[in-house]
Amino acid sequence: RVCHDRSAVVCIALRCYLPEGNGATGRPMNASITVLGIESSCDDTAAAVLRVSTGNSEILSNVVEGQARLHAPFGGVVPEIAARAHAEKLDICVAQALDEAGLGLDQIDAVAVTAGPGLIGGVVSGVMCAKGIALARGLPLYGVNHLAGHALTPRLTDGVAFPYLMLLVSGGHCQFLVVSGPDAFQRLGGTIDDAPGEAFDKVARLIALPQPGGPSIEALAKQGDAKRFKLPRPLLDREGCDMSFSGLKTAVLRQRDQLLVDGTLSAKDQADLAAGFQAAVVDVLAEKTRRALALYAPLTETRSICVAGGVAANMAIRTGLETVASDFEAKFIAPPLALCTDNAAMIAYAALEQMGTREPDGMDLSARPRWPLDQRAPAMLGSGKKGAKA
Ligand code: KG4
Ligand code: ZN
Repeated sequence: RVCHDRSAVVCIALRCYLPEGNGATGRPMNASITVLGIESSCDDTAAAVLRVSTGNSEILSNVVEGQARLHAPFGGVVPEIAARAHAEKLDICVAQALDEAGLGLDQIDAVAVTAGPGLIGGVVSGVMCAKGIALARGLPLYGVNHLAGHALTPRLTDGVAFPYLMLLVSGGHCQFLVVSGPDAFQRLGGTIDDAPGEAFDKVARLIALPQPGGPSIEALAKQGDAKRFKLPRPLLDREGCDMSFSGLKTAVLRQRDQLLVDGTLSAKDQADLAAGFQAAVVDVLAEKTRRALALYAPLTETRSICVAGGVAANMAIRTGLETVASDFEAKFIAPPLALCTDNAAMIAYAALEQMGTREPDGMDLSARPRWPLDQRAPAMLGSGKKGAKA
């Protein structure tokens, strides 16, 4: 194809591909689009190459360079360190992603980048990198909401049809979304304080388990007695789908303080606290999912509930959600873990889906620390003067 206006190529090709995607239209198409995705909103520097042809999406490469080692001594992500590490690694990750895909930049049709929400230094690094490539190569640029990337992933991995219910549970986010289109998200509720992953990490620290806390707590919980301590199930007494995990963490702290002997916990106490905490998170997520499903179920006969985010790796949580899903005769979908956690393939894919509904962004694309997916949802309790972050 000979066309110097790449954005025209992308739009023409996308008209064949969208709106159904993944071959669901059954329409013939001969175009293929290759998108470079870039992600740097938290503590993973990522680049990926995604190709869509004849209605099928194929991940040609998916490079993720984690920063856990850099942040470990500080017990949490340090924004300045994250930003510097992204700036250092972004071009390396992009080069590696192209290399693994066996492509050069001249074979890329569009650049997609996370433009928020997230730690601003990291988001700026990614946006500047993407702008540089797009400008130098005359490619269309798409700024993508990080949460849209997570929320649309089940379409990339499982071709799930709209509308579906999405539970995003990660270290930074927790919300229920009804996803009705590439850019149509309705938030039914979310956490008013900590995200569940954050709570897992903080509780692990409280009971002297290694980071990341989720996998450590899950492993130890298998040996613990979940019923020994009476831990709260926050906000279950309140209507709706909002959640809270910070009080639960404080309850674990209080319980731990009563158990300490010479500043240490016995192995049994540690395991029982891990099990009790995990069981409380499972109960809260399961009950709130039940409520979200009750709101979503009347919208469609083919019901799907999807999860994404690192916490979706937890088998106890998955089992709890699967039980609720089956009560509503809804299909339960959890993308493979590498696509559940932060990655750039999901950003490239979200851009591909959105190409059919909007124009590319200009060089004035800005990095946004706050960018709620559902702009109409009322600000959450605890979101501060500036409103919802995500
Ligand atoms: O989605 P993710 O990789 O990164 C961001 O939050 O950006 O999620 C990481 C979070 C961490 O808080 C980690 O403790 C949690 O996911 N996590 C888990 C498990 N594996 C990872 N939480 C509970 N159980 C697990 N098995
Ligand atoms: Zn994420």
